[in-house]
Amino acid sequence: MASHNDKRVHIATFGCQMNAYDSERMAGMMAHMGYTPVQNPDQADLIVLNTCSVRRRAEEKVYSYVGELKRLKREKPWLIIGVGGCVAQQEGYSLLRRLPHLDFVFGPDAVTSLPELVTQALQGKRQARTQLGPPPGPAGIIVPADPGLRAMVTVMTGCDNFCSYCVVPYVRGRERSRPAGEILDEVAALVAAGVREITLLGQNVNSYHDPDGGLDFAGLLARVNDVEGLWRIRFTTSHPKDLGQGLIDALAGLDKVMEQMHLPAQSGSNRLLKAMNRGYTREQYLEQVRRLREKVPQVALGSDIIVGFPGETQKDFEQSLSLLSEVRYDFLYSFKYSDRPFTKAGRLEGKLDEDTKGSRLVQLQALQRAIGLEEHQAQAGRVEELLVEGPAKHGQGLMSGRSRAGRVVNFPGPPELAGRLVMVRVTQGRENSLAGELLPATGEYTA
Ligand code: 5AD
Ligand code: SF4
Repeated sequence: MASHNDKRVHIATFGCQMNAYDSERMAGMMAHMGYTPVQNPDQADLIVLNTCSVRRRAEEKVYSYVGELKRLKREKPWLIIGVGGCVAQQEGYSLLRRLPHLDFVFGPDAVTSLPELVTQALQGKRQARTQLGPPPGPAGIIVPADPGLRAMVTVMTGCDNFCSYCVVPYVRGRERSRPAGEILDEVAALVAAGVREITLLGQNVNSYHDPDGGLDFAGLLARVNDVEGLWRIRFTTSHPKDLGQGLIDALAGLDKVMEQMHLPAQSGSNRLLKAMNRGYTREQYLEQVRRLREKVPQVALGSDIIVGFPGETQKDFEQSLSLLSEVRYDFLYSFKYSDRPFTKAGRLEGKLDEDTKGSRLVQLQALQRAIGLEEHQAQAGRVEELLVEGPAKHGQGLMSGRSRAGRVVNFPGPPELAGRLVMVRVTQGRENSLAGELLPATGEYTA
């Protein structure tokens, strides 16, 4: 058994950026308890899974991962295994009943209870903690020891929208905004630890409302924009029905707020948008895009599209295709509809077979690849500001960074540029990235 000073934790993260953020906080709390993080679960004394249940596939992945851990527990009976995140919230105590090798289960609102759950598990207590609502103690600010250049900060949790396909309101609970003061303190602490780019996270950032001072999201952005030493701000996700002029103006006017927006449409068919309970029509969505581009012409737009929602006809699907052609997104995440527990769509008639959903997804993705490539090729010749992250994944002597719009640009340059802002000229657009050349006069350009 590992000695007291040599405890190791493996945190396996599934799902969205919210979970990635929570996992960072879990790692920070476990470091305080003397646990060193390890990449390989075989080496761990504690394994924590941070799970996702937004689509069926994501949930299945969790179960197969948990199943494999049975063998490890047999070999190392002292191993503690905890399951957190949305599957934990959805299934609660029944996970402990079904999976005897699990030690504890905790929902997204019980993240700060992790140290206590681990301590009690070491004493043999098996439990599930899945109350939704603010955690009993202060949420606190947990900054990783070496956070890198980019970090996330949650501004709000939960969702009140009840899109008919979505499990999030059930597993993450009602919308709750964090106090602006706490968010700003966290941003400042991250910047002090070397972070230069912050992504503000919420299921629906547009309905952020400071519980202490009444600041809305645009107001919060203005305050974060004032944090000294911070260079770049991104945020996600915006709900199209709530995208107000204040946020568009903030995007246009605040220098540190990057020209990028994730504005999930979900479908291009009015009939399906209604069945999905999205709260806007195709025309209203397009009007939002027009307003946004009018003020911020260079904005890179992202979207999520679900194919094969119950009752989706070929005509409905074609309207999603035509939406892609009309908007010409820079980033697209597309999914096959899957039934989720508790949801209204799960009880609808007209479910589509897997083959139809699969072939629609392939068509949609092929169209987006073609649009994405054309959009990237159209970037050639443009001058872009990059935050250099490090050596490119492929290609010798190449460095990689992100433009203000969030596009990956690879360019020949020295490794010393990592962590700096540089200017490049785009030379070529590829499917997933851009190629560029460093502008000589800006070799010294740092913020
Ligand atoms: N089936 C397929 N995709 C879904 N999403 C949410 N719920 C489902 C579901 N039941 C997608 C939506 C959402 C993204 C995070 O996941 O597009 O924006
Ligand atoms: Fe789910 Fe809709 Fe809320 Fe997004 S806005 S988390 S899709 S219910």
